[in-house]
Amino acid sequence: MLDKIELAEKNFKNEVVTVKSLESLEELRIKFLGRKGIFTELFEEFKQLPSDEKPKYGQVLNKAKSSAQKVFDELKGKLEKSESEKKVYIDLTLDGREVELGSKHILTQTLDEIKQIFKGLGFSIYEGPELESDHNNFEMLNFPADHPARDMQDTFFVNDNFLLRTHTSPVQVRLMENKQPPIRALMPGKVYRNEAISAKSYCLFHQVEGLYVDEDVTFAELKGTLVVFLKQFFGEDVKYRFRPSFFPFTEPSAEVDVWWQPKGKEGRWLEILGCGMVDPNVLENVKIDNEKYVGYAFGMGVERIAMLKYGVGDIRVFFDNDKRFLKQF
Ligand code: DAH
Repeated sequence: MLDKIELAEKNFKNEVVTVKSLESLEELRIKFLGRKGIFTELFEEFKQLPSDEKPKYGQVLNKAKSSAQKVFDELKGKLEKSESEKKVYIDLTLDGREVELGSKHILTQTLDEIKQIFKGLGFSIYEGPELESDHNNFEMLNFPADHPARDMQDTFFVNDNFLLRTHTSPVQVRLMENKQPPIRALMPGKVYRNEAISAKSYCLFHQVEGLYVDEDVTFAELKGTLVVFLKQFFGEDVKYRFRPSFFPFTEPSAEVDVWWQPKGKEGRWLEILGCGMVDPNVLENVKIDNEKYVGYAFGMGVERIAMLKYGVGDIRVFFDNDKRFLKQF
C-alpha cells in the first residue's frame, strides 16, 4: 500500500509540471482526484484493510491526497488569472484610432429642407408603405386596367396584385380614405421603377407628394405654394415655368421645369415635379364628397431637385456610397 501511495504521489508530481492550460489541468484532476481517480481508488483499497492496519496508512494517504489537492488548487488559480489577463490585454502603447464623424446623406439633407419649407406652409408629414397594391398605386388614382398611362411607370410587380410603388401618390389615397378634409399633407418616400439605369434614371429614387383638400382650393393657390417653395429652396432668382401636362389623377395637370445652367455649358429646362387639381373621380374613389371639396396635389423628384441645387450630373452617385462624393456635403 505504501508503495502505491508513493507511486501515485510521484506520478502526480511528474505530470503536474507538464500542465500548461486549464484543459490539461482538468484532465489531470480527473485522472488523480476525480471520482474514479487514482487517489479515490486508493481510498477504496484502504477501506478494505483490516482495521489494525488502517491508522498506519490512513495518515499517509490523507497527506498525499491533500498535498496533491493543494498543488492542484494553486495551479488552477494561476492559470485562471493568466487566462483572464490574456483576454483583457490592451496594448496601451498603440496609436489611437481616429473617429470619423459621419454626416447626413445629401438626399436626407434635401428631404429635410423640403419638409421644413412645407411644414412652414402648414403641411403635416405622412408616410406610406413601399410595397403597395395595384389598387392603390393605379386603380384608385384613376388609372384603369390597360390604361396606356400605366406604361409611363415601368413597374416592378411582386405578384398580380402587389408591386413596389412607382410613385408616392398612393399615399394620398391611404390618407384620404382615413381622413376627411381639410387635409394638408406632405408625403415623402422611396419609389421604384424598372427603367434602364443611366445618368438620368435609376431603379430607385425619392419623391415628395403634396396634397391639399378643402372647400375652396384653387389652382392659383397651388401655383402660389409651389412658387414659394421654389424661391425658398433655390433662391429668389430661380427661373421656372409651369407647362400643361397630363396625369390620370389630376385635371387640369401641369409640370414644373427649372432652368439648369451648368457652368460654361449650355443650359436647359429640367422637369422637377408634376401637379394639378385632384380629379373628382379620385375624390369619389376615396369617398370624399366631390361636390363639396376640391383639392390640389403635386409630386416632386428629390434626386432631380438635389441635382439641380448642387450641380450633380449623374443620379447614380447618390446611391454609390462613394465617400469622396458624400463628404462634399
Ligand atoms: N405621381 C406622378 C409621377 O410619379 C407625379 C405627380 C403628378 C404627383 C401630379 C401628383 C400630381 O400628386 O398631382 O410621375
